[in-house]
Amino acid sequence: MFVGYLPPLLLSLAAVLLVHGQLQAGFISIDCGSPENLNFVDPDTGISYTSDGAYINTGISNNISSEYAYPNNPNLPYPLSDLRSFPNGNKNCYTLTPAAAKDSLYLLRASFLYGNYDGQEKPPEFDLYLGVNLWSSIKFRNASDVVTTEIIGSVVSDTVSVCLVNKGIGIPFISALELRPLNSSIYGTELGKPVSLVLFERFDIGYANGTGRYKDDIYDRIWSPYNSPSWDVISTSSEINSNENGYRAPLEVIRTAATTRNGSDRLELSWTADDDASSFYVYMYFAEVQRLEKNQTRKFNISWNGSLMFGPVVPLYMYAATISNSEAFTRKEHRISIYKTDDANLPPILNAIEIYVAKQLDELPTFSVDAAAVLTIKTTYKVNKWWVGDPCGPKNYTWEGIECNYNVLVPPRIVSLNLSSSGLSGRISTSFGNLSSMQTLDLSNNHLTGPVPEFLEELKSLKLLNLEGNQLSGYVPEELLDRSKAGLLTLRVDEQNICSSGSCKKKKNVVVPVVASVLSALVLSVALILWGLRRKRKPEADVFNGEGRPLPSKNRQFTFAEVLNITSNFQDVIGKGGFGTVYRGKLKDGTQVAVKMLSTSSKQGSREFQAEAELLMRVHHRNLASFVGYCDDGSNMALIYEYMANGNLKDYLSCILVSCHELHMQSPLQFYCILTKFIIKLCDNLMLKAKSSSWEMRLRIAIDAAQGLEYLHHGCKPPIIHRDVKTANILLSENMDAKIADFGLSKAIVPSEGHSDLIVTTVMGTPGYLDPEYYNTRKLNEKSDVFSFGVVLLELITGQNAVIKKEETMHIVHWVIPLIKRGDIGSIVDRRLHGEFDPNSVSKALEVAMACTRPKSLHRATMSSVLSELNQCLALELTHNRETKDRCSKEIDIGSSTPSYDSSEVYSISTATDSITSPFAR
Ligand SMILES: *[C@@H]1O[C@H](CO)[C@@H](O)[C@H](O)[C@H]1NC(C)=O
Ligand SMILES: *[C@@H]1O[C@H](CO)[C@@H](O)[C@H](O)[C@H]1NC(C)=O
Ligand SMILES: *[C@@H]1O[C@H](CO)[C@@H](O)[C@H](O)[C@H]1NC(C)=O
Ligand SMILES: *[C@@H]1O[C@H](CO)[C@@H](O)[C@H](O)[C@H]1NC(C)=O
Ligand SMILES: *[C@@H]1O[C@H](CO)[C@@H](O)[C@H](O)[C@H]1NC(C)=O
Ligand SMILES: *[C@@H]1O[C@H](CO)[C@@H](O)[C@H](O)[C@H]1NC(C)=O
Ligand SMILES: *[C@@H]1O[C@H](CO)[C@@H](O)[C@H](O)[C@H]1NC(C)=O
Repeated sequence: MFVGYLPPLLLSLAAVLLVHGQLQAGFISIDCGSPENLNFVDPDTGISYTSDGAYINTGISNNISSEYAYPNNPNLPYPLSDLRSFPNGNKNCYTLTPAAAKDSLYLLRASFLYGNYDGQEKPPEFDLYLGVNLWSSIKFRNASDVVTTEIIGSVVSDTVSVCLVNKGIGIPFISALELRPLNSSIYGTELGKPVSLVLFERFDIGYANGTGRYKDDIYDRIWSPYNSPSWDVISTSSEINSNENGYRAPLEVIRTAATTRNGSDRLELSWTADDDASSFYVYMYFAEVQRLEKNQTRKFNISWNGSLMFGPVVPLYMYAATISNSEAFTRKEHRISIYKTDDANLPPILNAIEIYVAKQLDELPTFSVDAAAVLTIKTTYKVNKWWVGDPCGPKNYTWEGIECNYNVLVPPRIVSLNLSSSGLSGRISTSFGNLSSMQTLDLSNNHLTGPVPEFLEELKSLKLLNLEGNQLSGYVPEELLDRSKAGLLTLRVDEQNICSSGSCKKKKNVVVPVVASVLSALVLSVALILWGLRRKRKPEADVFNGEGRPLPSKNRQFTFAEVLNITSNFQDVIGKGGFGTVYRGKLKDGTQVAVKMLSTSSKQGSREFQAEAELLMRVHHRNLASFVGYCDDGSNMALIYEYMANGNLKDYLSCILVSCHELHMQSPLQFYCILTKFIIKLCDNLMLKAKSSSWEMRLRIAIDAAQGLEYLHHGCKPPIIHRDVKTANILLSENMDAKIADFGLSKAIVPSEGHSDLIVTTVMGTPGYLDPEYYNTRKLNEKSDVFSFGVVLLELITGQNAVIKKEETMHIVHWVIPLIKRGDIGSIVDRRLHGEFDPNSVSKALEVAMACTRPKSLHRATMSSVLSELNQCLALELTHNRETKDRCSKEIDIGSSTPSYDSSEVYSISTATDSITSPFAR
């Protein structure tokens, strides 16, 4: 083996010779602590390393002590001979910028060799973080122990940061850091969760000749040889096709395999997890390396802890395949067994195996706007503090002087900033005004000059503002003074910044009184609408169960003449769908109904139709639109439902919650450009009122719909699959109770006995809501409805359509997943909710939606669990509402002086409000 200190020039030359073409494309290979601008090629691996100066600007370069270095340690990998240590700061971070696009997969490897670099003979202990998530705790057995840790994850932002955190048990250091791009189609786990994989073991099974790392592994994985005395090794020297398998196991690894000596034995691998809750993913590699005779069969099953995982497996000759578990193995003890099937006469084989521990990287970095603001503050004032890495994360290692508020699934927010006596000079930066969750701002005892800025009044959560001991001019904004008088804000400012006489008030704009009158009219009308919408929930008494109330079908069968009569000759169209047109009608007793005429194209056999209609009549539930009857005279088919006064959820979402912006633009007030700010403020206040019911109302709608579906799936015998769950099929009663309509309209599904899946010949449903698995396999089960329900839930959360049409058309699930991965929940939630909801409630609902829309139906939640989770969301939200109620009622005390109306303005307002109410005027 050749390892040595070649002069840098020669090494660079070697780099040119060795590294060409596509090799090492996208690799980032950092030799930490090496002399600046040193680039070299590791003669062992051919990998080209750079020094770390471009990736970090803290820490100190060190060399390991000669005792552990070359030539005393001839096998020492070159990059481990030096290191960077971090005696200062609780957290130090490397920032890497992968060349690959966002959401692509990469492997990250960090290596550590203490080598008594500091002469203390005492290896430290410290934590390694990937961004704000703990990746690994680093410990050493002794000074010569080389610790290497690998993680596979996806790039969720433009940069990847690797942080070393000082736990108070020694100074952190790092020897080498490597990033390798992977093919995104491999190392799959469960979708929708930001899971990363930390390497547990990677074995080249059956290889005995010692070398670990292979130049021919295009992903630069390090494979450890592994063998057992009870195994035989079989191998080939021919080429094996592993290119079509995205895992691209290197030839040396896949060419050798272990097999049991006695054909009836099992190939077994077992291990013990560090803790019971660890989840493991296992990737096994198989390729047949022997040419089999006609009478030879190799065929085996694979089990985990005694339960069959895969099988039977027949490895293909000279062709690599990878098998992995789609659901994590979660146990303390693990045992993988590979054993031949009864009809096989050759023993099982295993060529290679990788075992990973899943890491939920669910801690999120600081809310991006907050992070950008403090970063600007840091550079503007050259803040002399250890402000490195993410401001709020990891939790116990926030930036000095910063406190944060943490919530599940929502990025942390900065709530407190203490920069007192920090030598700040110049004006107060507008960046402070961007920290919109801030409760405490202390800028006392600095050299700040310029006016007390107006934008400080935008900090609505501010409870303490300390500006004392600066040279500020001008006055504290009036609104802050008012809040301080009301006891909502503790204000500490120098005397000269408080306005003591009325003369220093700014002149008010003359148009204000007119505006005020307009605004109060607007308040009144919108408030009325909202009041009208507020739901009064009925007691639970009117829940019927599916059994026991079969109604005589004769009474429910209508003739076509009767249908004509009911609908007054199809006068009033209230909806159009794929199955036909819906008309409004009135029964003899005055009951309002919706009559759905089935289009001839969706016609089915008369008997079949009647059978379904009879079935529907036996289904009663508070959250299913009541089925009144049907008409079938051979040429005309109609279904008659109860009429729902508030239309469907689709219209509700697109119309009633008209955003303030739209409201403003629709009114003639838009000409008063100067008033814009005022109106938006008013809207915010209005929304505040509306909000108390808004997310709550959406949740109640979701729960109602879930109850309806849960009943169809689990309360009906046989179960009914709706097949067309969508917002347009969720109707809202006068009291805003949601009911599912059209159930069984497409087809009442009665799975044949013993089969939970039903194969259907024509796929029905609405694009955007259609379960992709059902679409592909034609296998229908109730999880297809669960998928569609998940889409509806996403619409309720985001206010977006199932199919989002912007620059490019996109499915709502695909729109949401990258945002979740990035932790950008702020961009997910409907902005029309104006942030007024319990973040934990919304996050939980989002989790539920993701659990409903997983690509594989097997992994999706059931309606029963969805229902119980949503009820928990509601409980969270109700608690939150109670807590904020008092604060809100204080804040929105507007219009205490009500000037007289100007009639023309009142007229314009009523026009604006009409456009809001019209969808409900049916
Ligand atoms: C480490 O060793 C190299 C090679 O001998 C030398 O150039 C470098 O200055 C040393 N670094 C430190 C921090 O001592
Ligand atoms: C350090 O620990 C490793 C693993 O336990 C052991 O193989 C090695 O001999 C130890 N080295 C020294 C110098 O104690
Ligand atoms: C190990 O190396 C020896 C000598 O180079 C070779 O003959 C043998 O086939 C190798 N074994 C394996 C399993 O590759
Ligand atoms: C990733 O692997 C898949 C499956 O083998 C292959 O089709 C695809 O071309 C690969 N992508 C890249 C970028 O190598
Ligand atoms: C193989 O194992 C079976 C069961 O353990 C045993 O009966 C048989 O004798 C063994 N065969 C050989 C060749 O060792
Ligand atoms: C398979 O056939 C060959 C001859 O073609 C024979 O020698 C061998 O014993 C047979 N093996 C088995 C397992 O039947
Ligand atoms: C943070 O600090 C608290 C108290 O010191 C401790 O209990 C907790 O375990 C720490 N959390 C982490 C993630 O280190």
